Amino acid sequence: MKGFFPINKFKEVTTPFYYYDTSILQKTIDTIKGIVAKHPNYHVHYAIKANANSKVLAYISKAGLGADCVSGGEIQAALNAGFPVDKIVFAGVGKSDEEIKLGLEHGIFCFNVESEEELEVINQLAKEKDVIAHIAFRINPNVRAHTHANITTGLSENKFGINMEDMERIIARALAMGNIALEGLHFHIGSQILIMDDFAALCNRINELQDKLNITLKHINVGGGLGIDYDNPNEHLIPDFESYFETFHSHLKLREGQTLHFELGRSIVGQCGSLISKVLYVKQGSSKKFAILDAGMTDLIRPALYQAHHSIENLTSDEAEEEYDVVGPICESSDVFDKAVTLNKVKRGDYFALRSAGAYGEIMASGYNCRPLPKGYLDTEF
Ligand code: LLP
Repeated sequence: MKGFFPINKFKEVTTPFYYYDTSILQKTIDTIKGIVAKHPNYHVHYAIKANANSKVLAYISKAGLGADCVSGGEIQAALNAGFPVDKIVFAGVGKSDEEIKLGLEHGIFCFNVESEEELEVINQLAKEKDVIAHIAFRINPNVRAHTHANITTGLSENKFGINMEDMERIIARALAMGNIALEGLHFHIGSQILIMDDFAALCNRINELQDKLNITLKHINVGGGLGIDYDNPNEHLIPDFESYFETFHSHLKLREGQTLHFELGRSIVGQCGSLISKVLYVKQGSSKKFAILDAGMTDLIRPALYQAHHSIENLTSDEAEEEYDVVGPICESSDVFDKAVTLNKVKRGDYFALRSAGAYGEIMASGYNCRPLPKGYLDTEF
């Protein structure tokens, strides 16, 4: 896959940096649009939290997707990138008054409300502005997703959403409020989910709930969560959207006139991005060799935080393969990208690609150790 990167041009920019391949991004978006075109009541919102690089956002907004936001900053980023305000949804367990006001001022499509307490505040703030807040209730469906414990969200032990048992009472309260228009139900069971049965279980929960409630709301939002293949990115550059949408199509019993909303993040941007880094040193340890990169956990925190695996390639060597622990320069023992990786023989100055880093990579970078934040470039900029 080395031909995939314009390595000769990488000298023009400072490493580490994020590299986004727009042809992969476009193909991913086209695949989604191709499927969704067959279902006019399906609406896909891109989850801004996965990657808010302004150039990536502009690309996605041009494709006509909506935006799923979790903060005022994300709402602003979505608006700046040209996402239409009537396609912006806003979730989050702790929306501040300022963030709610921002959403109200712009008249966003929907607040995904996560508690009765939040409902009251939104109603009050909408009343002060003399506007109507369009809302959906985020429901905790108590469905266990088969993914890393830190990224499951749909269990009753998690902080997210309103419990199913409380729904009827809270719906009645919302309907009695003067500045609230209750229009939907929202769910999200977790992220990096590759087992379609998890989504089918969510559909079954929604079906049960809809049977139980004596009200039909306009919109059902099933959140995001479709996973990508971190181990073999080249074989699966495009996630399995066919199976994903088909699972909802065949399991979810939508009522007459209901629209179905998705909030996909990782599956849209994950595979188009790589973290490009240069080798600072090859250090011989007592029993193994370390390839020490100029990128660290401050640039890509997923391996340290979730024990996530990103496939690593040496882009500038064809020599015989050897084993290395690939590590960063940060003063933390967890600053390890991967251990015992087989790579073409590594020397100082080699360029590495850490693949499948388009989602939750650049956006989760930090300035720890007073390091500068990595920049992101599209392939078209080289
Ligand atoms: N909707 C809601 C309500 C969410 O909480 C999330 C992700 C999404 C949509 C988008 O999920 P996706 O399609 O990207 O799976 N930093 C972690 C992932 C955290 C996901 C948080 N919520 C990681 O690097 O794996």
